[in-house]
Amino acid sequence: MDLHCFLCWGVALLLLLMPCGHQCLSVRILNQEPVYVIPGSSLVLRARIEQGPLEEISMISWERESETGVDPGKVTLATCPGSSLKCAGTRPNVRANAEQKETTLQIDGYSSTDSGVYAVTLTDHKGAETTAHCIVRMYEAVHHVSVSINVSHSLLVCGEAWGTEPHFSWLYERVAITKTVGSVSKDGTTLLVTMTPFCGHFTCVVSNKLGYSSATYTATPCETEGRGTTAAVVCLVVLLLLGGVLAFLLWRRHRHSSRGERLHEHLDDTI
Ligand SMILES: *[C@@H]1O[C@H](CO)[C@@H](O)[C@H](O)[C@H]1NC(C)=O
Repeated sequence: MDLHCFLCWGVALLLLLMPCGHQCLSVRILNQEPVYVIPGSSLVLRARIEQGPLEEISMISWERESETGVDPGKVTLATCPGSSLKCAGTRPNVRANAEQKETTLQIDGYSSTDSGVYAVTLTDHKGAETTAHCIVRMYEAVHHVSVSINVSHSLLVCGEAWGTEPHFSWLYERVAITKTVGSVSKDGTTLLVTMTPFCGHFTCVVSNKLGYSSATYTATPCETEGRGTTAAVVCLVVLLLLGGVLAFLLWRRHRHSSRGERLHEHLDDTI
């Protein structure tokens, strides 16, 4: 009898210590939200299952509905019924897997119609349900890059329409921005131009996993020192050439006239 009582107390204590008693079936999607998927690649969602010792899962199901709520239909993608939790996808490109502590959903050849709010629902042996959600969107290429100027503050602002995870960088005359040109804001979208005069070509390049796109702001042309030097060198070369030609002409004329004199002398001699 003593032993029986001891066991009773033991079980009671165990139930007290367990944080959720026997109602703690829960599920959590491990992917970071929102999940962006490149078209044609595979989407893999993983969910962690927390389960009390007295609970049994009778069903796991994966579903999807539209994110905007315009199309209210809920589509069942896969179900894993029974205690064996053998999963079956509703389409050829959908696979699911379920184990004691984890369930996964994989969709191959992802397309825009696969975007939406994904839900994984666990049903316990009493019919109680618990659900976790995750937003999934298509990974979009960079679109419509533009550069605008804020004249009063010498700022160039780069914009992009709807590309996923855009990364901004700047070039001046096709070379990365240096401190002599200006400074780029932390998020990369703004370039504070500190060079004077404000001249030349400023290019904003926006890139992501699918490629890049760029736009250029053209300020007034630069009157650089380099150009001045080139002009001086060209002038000098022209002057030298002219001088050379002149010297050559003079020398030829001089030679002709002296030969003429000698010819005269010769004629005089024969006569
Ligand atoms: C220019 O930039 C400054 C500082 O960021 C801002 O306060 C101002 O409104 C901007 N002007 C225009 C025309 O966008």
